[in-house]
Amino acid sequence: MAKKISVPRGTTDILPAEISTWQNIEQITRKLLGIYNYKEIRTPIYEETDLFQRSLGQTSDVVNKQLLQLAGDKKEGFSLRPEGTASVVRSYIEQGLDRKEALSKLYYIGPMFRGERPQKGRLRQFHQIGVEAIGVDSCSPYLDAEIISLSVKLLHLIGLEGFELKINSLGTVEDKNNFSSILKDNLNDKRKDLCSDCQDRYDRNVFRILDCKNETCRDIVHDLKIGNDYLSDDSKEYFNRVKDGLVDLDVSFEVDEKLVRGLDYYTHTVFEISDSNLGSQDALGAGGRYSNLVKQLGGPNADAVGFALGIERMILALNNPAEDTKTLEVFIIALDEKSFKIAVQLADALRKEDIQTDVSYRSTSLKAQMKFANKINARSVVIIGEEELKENVVTFKDMESSDQLSLKIDNNEFSSVIKQIKERE
Ligand code: HAM
Repeated sequence: MAKKISVPRGTTDILPAEISTWQNIEQITRKLLGIYNYKEIRTPIYEETDLFQRSLGQTSDVVNKQLLQLAGDKKEGFSLRPEGTASVVRSYIEQGLDRKEALSKLYYIGPMFRGERPQKGRLRQFHQIGVEAIGVDSCSPYLDAEIISLSVKLLHLIGLEGFELKINSLGTVEDKNNFSSILKDNLNDKRKDLCSDCQDRYDRNVFRILDCKNETCRDIVHDLKIGNDYLSDDSKEYFNRVKDGLVDLDVSFEVDEKLVRGLDYYTHTVFEISDSNLGSQDALGAGGRYSNLVKQLGGPNADAVGFALGIERMILALNNPAEDTKTLEVFIIALDEKSFKIAVQLADALRKEDIQTDVSYRSTSLKAQMKFANKINARSVVIIGEEELKENVVTFKDMESSDQLSLKIDNNEFSSVIKQIKERE
């Protein structure tokens, strides 16, 4: 027997039975984002590796350990996108969006790729809904609050409850440097107890230690007293206004002074939304402000804020989303070769009337085909066979009432069938 080929590790097929959950999430998203005046953007699923290295940071796990580089393109170096922000910023700069609009409000829905060790809620190909607001002079705490409240509203509309929103401020680049020194001072005498990765992180990027999953490191981090002294007065004031904005918008949140996020580009506001029912991979989504990324990638002095939600995690948290109930308006069964010619024409006529129709192309018995029609929840069945052709009729069966009648078809004119189906709608 030929060897079967499996789906790549850490990826999944989304089957027809699950698709309505996905389409529902996408529809709710598009509608809400339209209401907030966001426009969709679609960028390639791979980019120059350099883009991710320069934006997410050389020391981030996403770049350091999880970037899936494309083989065979060694000269230029391309990687599958691990997230969407870097690509959107690349596009914003390249397409000169700053010259077209004061504030570009953009969103994307699509697959992202990270070479992680797969587990529940952690995939190598997963999907994000991402939102980015980018513009010159757009550093407004009210926009941060709007973005955060939008992410919460979206989750509620999708049907999620009971998740937690944590926020923090990293301040400006100078504040982040202060934060880094304070962390280093606090961790200095515990350095030797950290895991080997974190000993390395201490020098390369001390923030990453706060996200370490190693139990000893977590205990050490848990005992740290940080406060927000690293923030300048202006940054504290900015953060206070974000918090006030959230209160005004009725968004509940908790300030977590150890929330730093795993990607380098953040400044000022950062946030994360988690659902404790998800187990170890509990983040439903996250985001924050990134004031320097556009400039850092060669663009104008534009500021930005955004977030991304993981679709697979949302579906996991929805806990048994409804399976699709299959239905079909009309199922046509042809019993011989001549009847097939009529069946195909009838199907074409019904479809032109926007009536959902399918033809059974199987050649099993009528009984077996009726059983199948039941299984697929066909609302009506049209049977065409030798008897029917002799009389210039088709047999129409309403599967809900079991009523059966003969409907005339003259010269391949199917108005009687169309009328019958439309009347029952
Ligand atoms: P992130 O925290 O890396 O942020 O990812 C956002 C969300 O994507 C996570 O909270 C999670 O729900 C989902 N996610 C991430 N990795 C995986 C995975 N391996 N399997 C399943 N789901 C996953 C970003 O990507 C930023 N670009 C967010 C952002 C947008 N910040 C500003 N703008």
